[in-house]
Amino acid sequence: MNKKNAHFFLPLVLVLLTATISGQKSVFARIPIGVNYAKHAHGGNPSPAAVISALRSMRIDRVRLLVPDLDLIQAFSYTGISLLLCLHNSYVPRFASNESEAYTWVRDHVASRYPRIRVVMLSLGSNVLTLSPDLAEFVLPAVQNVHRALRKLGLRHVSVSTTASFEALTSAFPPSGAQFHQFAAQSFFAPLLDFLSATNSSFLVDICPYDLFRTDPEIPIGFALFQEEPFSFRDDPVTGIRYRNLFDVMVDAVINGMAALGHDDIPVVVTETGWPSSGGPGEPEASLVYAEMYNRGLVRHLAESVSRTASPTRRDAVPETYIYLQDEDAKQGRGAEARWGILYPNLTKKYEFDLSRGARAADSCAVAAVTAAALLLFRRSFFFF
Ligand SMILES: *[C@@H]1O[C@H](CO)[C@@H](O)[C@H](O)[C@H]1NC(C)=O
Ligand SMILES: *[C@@H]1O[C@H](CO)[C@@H](O)[C@H](O)[C@H]1NC(C)=O
Ligand SMILES: *[C@@H]1O[C@H](CO)[C@@H](O)[C@H](O)[C@H]1NC(C)=O
Repeated sequence: MNKKNAHFFLPLVLVLLTATISGQKSVFARIPIGVNYAKHAHGGNPSPAAVISALRSMRIDRVRLLVPDLDLIQAFSYTGISLLLCLHNSYVPRFASNESEAYTWVRDHVASRYPRIRVVMLSLGSNVLTLSPDLAEFVLPAVQNVHRALRKLGLRHVSVSTTASFEALTSAFPPSGAQFHQFAAQSFFAPLLDFLSATNSSFLVDICPYDLFRTDPEIPIGFALFQEEPFSFRDDPVTGIRYRNLFDVMVDAVINGMAALGHDDIPVVVTETGWPSSGGPGEPEASLVYAEMYNRGLVRHLAESVSRTASPTRRDAVPETYIYLQDEDAKQGRGAEARWGILYPNLTKKYEFDLSRGARAADSCAVAAVTAAALLLFRRSFFFF
C-alpha cells in the first residue's frame, strides 16, 4: 500500500474499530439480563462465594434469590450485584396479618445491610393464584405491609411486588386481545396494578415460551427459539404488529392484559424464562442444543431491544429478564427431570455463556451443531408459514 492509500485507509479503519468497540461496550453494559438462583433443599449446594464467582465470570450483575436467607444475602455484600429477593408463598398470610412481622423481616434482611447489599426489589409470593389460590386475598395486604415497612425504614428505592404466572392471561395470540382471566381480573389484578402504579413498582411475570410451544402444535419451534428467519413471523390482525418470536408475543399479551385494566405504563419484569436442556419422556425439544439456542437468542434479542424498543408495543417495557443459573431438581408443574439452568449443579457451564462478549461475539463462535439445527428449523418454519 502506498502512502496516499494509507492516509485514506487509516482513518477509516480507526472509525470502524471505534464503532465496533463502542458498539459492543454499550451492548454488554446494558443487556438487562439476570439469573434466578435457588438453593436446593436437599443440600449439596456450592458455597455462596463459588456462586458469586461464577456470576462474576459471566458478567451477570443482577440475581433473583428464590430462597433469600441471611447467609446468602450477606455474601453479596460489596459485590455491586443487584438483588431481587423472592419470598415464598408461606410469607404471604403472615405478612398480611401482622405488619410488625413484615417490618422485622425487612429490617433484618434489607435495611440493616443496605446499601452494601444492593436490594432493588422484593417479590412477595410466586404464582399464588395458581399454586395457592386460597392465599390470593392476602397478597395485596402483605405487599402493602412490606411497602410500609420499606418506607418506615427509609428505603425509598426498594420496590415491592408479587410474581404472576403467564397462565393468569386468557391467551397469548393475538397479543392485542389478551386479558387477565375474568375470575381474577377485577378482584386480584386491578387493585394490584393500582398499587404498582402508585408506588412506581413493576409487574413481575414468568414467561416460558417452552410451555406454550408444548401446548400449541401450531407454533414452529424456530419461532419459540428466536430463530428470526424471513418466513417466520406472525402478525397481530388488530394492531398489524409483526412478531418474530414467541417471547415478544407473550410479553405484549401481558402488556395488553394490563392495558385492558387501565394501566399502560407499568414496567414488566420477566422473572423467569428459559428452555430445558433435558426432559422426561415425550419432551424431545428439551435438549441442550435448543436450550443454548434459546438463551443465546434471548440475549441477542435483548441486546437489540436496548437500542430499539423493548417490546413491539411499548418502549422500555421489559427493564429486566431473569434466566436460570443452575439446574434445579423437580420444578413444580414441569417434567420431573427438566433442566433449565445455564450451569450444571456443580457450576460448570453447559455451553459458553458470557454477557460481556455480547450477543454478536457469542453468535460468531456458535457451535456447528447449533448452526445445523438452525438450518433444520428454518426449513420447518418455512413450511409452517
Ligand atoms: C406479630 O409479629 C411480632 C413480631 O414477629 C410478634 O411479636 C407478635 O406477637 C405478632 N402479633 C400477632 C398478633 O401475631
Ligand atoms: C421510578 O422508578 C424508576 C426506575 O426504577 C426510577 O428511575 C424513577 O426515579 C422512579 N420514580 C420515582 C418517582 O420514584
Ligand atoms: C459437572 O457436572 C457435569 C454434569 O453432571 C459433568 O459433566 C462435569 O464433568 C462436572 N464437572 C466437574 C468439574 O465436576
